[in-house]
Amino acid sequence: MRRSRILGFGSYLPANRVTNEELAKRVDTSDEWITQRTGIMARHVAAEGETTSMLATKAAERALADAGVKAEDIDLIVLATATPDYTFPATATQVQAALGITKGVAFDVAAVCSGFVFALTTADKFLASGSHKRALVIGAETFSRILDWEDRTTCVLFGDGAGAVVLEAFEAAGTNEDVGILTTHLRSDGRHREKLYVDGGPSTTGTAGHLRMEGKEVFKHAVGMITDVITDAYAATGYNSSTIDWFVPHQANRRIITASAEKLGISLDKVVLTVQDHGNTSAASIPLALDTAWRDGRLKRGQVVLIEAMGGGFTWGSALFRL
Ligand code: UT7
Repeated sequence: MRRSRILGFGSYLPANRVTNEELAKRVDTSDEWITQRTGIMARHVAAEGETTSMLATKAAERALADAGVKAEDIDLIVLATATPDYTFPATATQVQAALGITKGVAFDVAAVCSGFVFALTTADKFLASGSHKRALVIGAETFSRILDWEDRTTCVLFGDGAGAVVLEAFEAAGTNEDVGILTTHLRSDGRHREKLYVDGGPSTTGTAGHLRMEGKEVFKHAVGMITDVITDAYAATGYNSSTIDWFVPHQANRRIITASAEKLGISLDKVVLTVQDHGNTSAASIPLALDTAWRDGRLKRGQVVLIEAMGGGFTWGSALFRL
């Protein structure tokens, strides 16, 4: 059967690193509160004029270099973002142009914090169908642009950044011992919009708007939703919390991650945590975490990796792959 496998990883963080102490000078918060409630110690914030497509392009270039693939050999770009450069065209097309790619297709997917799982699933299905051969899958965000910097309940939580992977189609044996993406599971439930949304848009206010969140409500739903899609991934592949090598979750809050891992029986030494350094970078968080663990040597070829995310919509999803 035709599957897709990951050839390389890349990521990019804006140079400006903002600590909790620095935020405490702007809003009524403290390093102690942010660290205890979320695990976040710092986040990166894009410079003026530095856009989502610029971060995405840098992450994509690094992933291409890691994979040993030339930009011209990419025929599909799927980019997940909730903070596009413009309402249109799709940010993916700006990355396509910046990389000098003139063939194939590039488009965005919108699933907020679950965006990378949705983008990877979409690209995997294109490659498995035989319609495309090599894909860049990117999660990139400049959430700093849609934060209300007066609202301490949200502005301390998020950061900017981008991560990317290069995926290639190949003929696999069709067993769960194969390398490549072995299963993906996506869900959404639009009834939860008001718990996590942006209060503006082209068709409502004509503005970009600001992020609004009922944090406690989101937290309450997160662990159950995450557990559901991971249980689906286990059922589809026969893997379980003991037989996976790494758990690379969306990085929203260390307490959500550890509660999910504990509920699923995933030992904490298998969990890749980057929330302390990046904050919640929405669609960028999983590929940023994957690249971090790949470059520091934790992730190795042959290992089984489980990813999951949950976010605005609500949307949620999981994917399980062998490197
Ligand atoms: O990416 C996917 C989507 N997002 C998430 O997954 C986020 C999910 N939610 C969370 O991570 C947590 O709910 C938060 C980190 C947002 C909040 O943690 P919490 O433990 O649920 O705190 P809380 O909202 O219940 O607030 C507790 C207290 C409140 O004060 P009172 O009412 O108890 O006096 C808040 O006003 O903490 C106060 N508070 C703060 N204090 C200092 C809220 N934000 C801050 C702050 N600094 N930045």
